[in-house]
Order: sequence, then C-alpha cells, then structure tokens
Amino acid sequence: MNTTPPLLITIDGPAGAGKTTVSKMLARELGYRYLDTGALYRGVAYEVRAAGIAADDDAGLERVCRSLKLEFQDNRLTSNGADISQLIRTPEITMLASAVSARPVVRQALLDLQRDIGRAKALVAEGRDMGTVVFPDADLKFFLDASVRQRARRRYEQYGAAGQQTLERIEQEIRQRDANDSSRDVAPLKPADDAVIIDSTAIDAEQVVAKMMAQVAAIIP
Ligand code: DC
Repeated sequence: MNTTPPLLITIDGPAGAGKTTVSKMLARELGYRYLDTGALYRGVAYEVRAAGIAADDDAGLERVCRSLKLEFQDNRLTSNGADISQLIRTPEITMLASAVSARPVVRQALLDLQRDIGRAKALVAEGRDMGTVVFPDADLKFFLDASVRQRARRRYEQYGAAGQQTLERIEQEIRQRDANDSSRDVAPLKPADDAVIIDSTAIDAEQVVAKMMAQVAAIIP
C-alpha cells in the first residue's frame, strides 16, 4: 500500500528544455496529474486574438480574462467548453502567448486558477514561475535548462519535419522568447532559490526523470 502523502512538484525552465516530455513522464511514474501552465497562457492568447485585442491593451485583456473559462484536463485545453488544444500550438499563438504573459493583468487572472488546480497536490506543474510565484511552498522544485542550440534542435526534430521552419529560425525564436520571458518585470523566468537545477543539454528525458525520481525518493520514506 502506498501511504506516501501526495506531493506538489514544480518544473520551470526556458522554452524547449524538455519540460513537457519530462513533466508528463514524471506525472505518469508517480500517478499524479499534470498541469501545463504554458497552455493556459496560450489559451488567453488565443482568445485575445479571436477578440481582436492588442497584446498591450490592458483593459481589453482584463475583459477577455474576465469572460474566460479555461480548463486543463487530461492534457486537453478547453476554453468556454471548446477544445482548443491544437489551435494554441501555431507559431503566431506562441509569440502572442509570450507577449500577453508579460502583462500583470493576465498573470493575476491565471493565478487563482493555477492555485485551485494545485490545492489537491498529487500534481506535476510545468511553467516559468511555478516554484517562484504560483507555488512557492511546493514540496519539490526543479529548474530544467539546456543550451539554446540543443533546445532549438529538439524543437526542430519535433516540428521541423513538417518543413515549416528552419533550425536557424527556431533558434532565433527561442532567443527572442528567452529574452521576453526573462526580462519582464512580473514573474521573470528564473530558478527558485530552493530549486534543483538540472541541465538536459547532454542527457535524454529518461535520464532527467531518473534524477528527479532520486530527489523524490530522498524526501519520501
Ligand atoms: O511553455 P509554453 O511555450 O507553452 O509557454 C507559452 C508562453 O507562456 C511562454 O512564452 C511563456 C509563458 N508562460 C509564462 O509566462 N508562465 C508560465 N507559468 C508558463 C508559460
């Protein structure tokens, strides 16, 4: 019988470090739920675009956020009941998500939703500010990093086969997003003081998860 109290585990890091793959694997291994908070920001971006609102129009953003009903469950994102899981993965929504996520009004709107989902624990939450802002009391915090070149290569292997973007273009986009995500005033991307930092440049997802499981084993009997 497993008497282990459920943990809340956070995984932060830059775009393309492998957070999604690793978070899903870790959640599966522990029998936990998985929360992709980037999908929530993408959902906001999708609705902002649909409403024809500019990314720096705070009053408009607030209006959109107020009428928004996002749900993330079983790896699907619904907005007011409509499944938009695929629609939020376009390059345009990717850049718009980065822009709207820099607006305090958007971050505030998503804060309660994320904390509600985390309340029951037994959760692996992936994002940029999980350990620093949203769940500062998380049981275990990871920061997953990798070189820009390696992150671009992984993205290219994931999506590049469809032939839409070159490796150079992806690398350029990643640099741009890193700059956006790290330099913003609210909740900039950075490791929490008590985060375990893992560099995945030279190791694969299984090896990253093994390192994480070793940390889990160290805090539960
Ligand atoms: O992880 P992703 O690429 O799906 O995230 C989309 C954007 O959302 C990304 O530019 C950073 C932002 N984001 C954020 O600011 N805070 C989070 N917790 C998660 C994502």
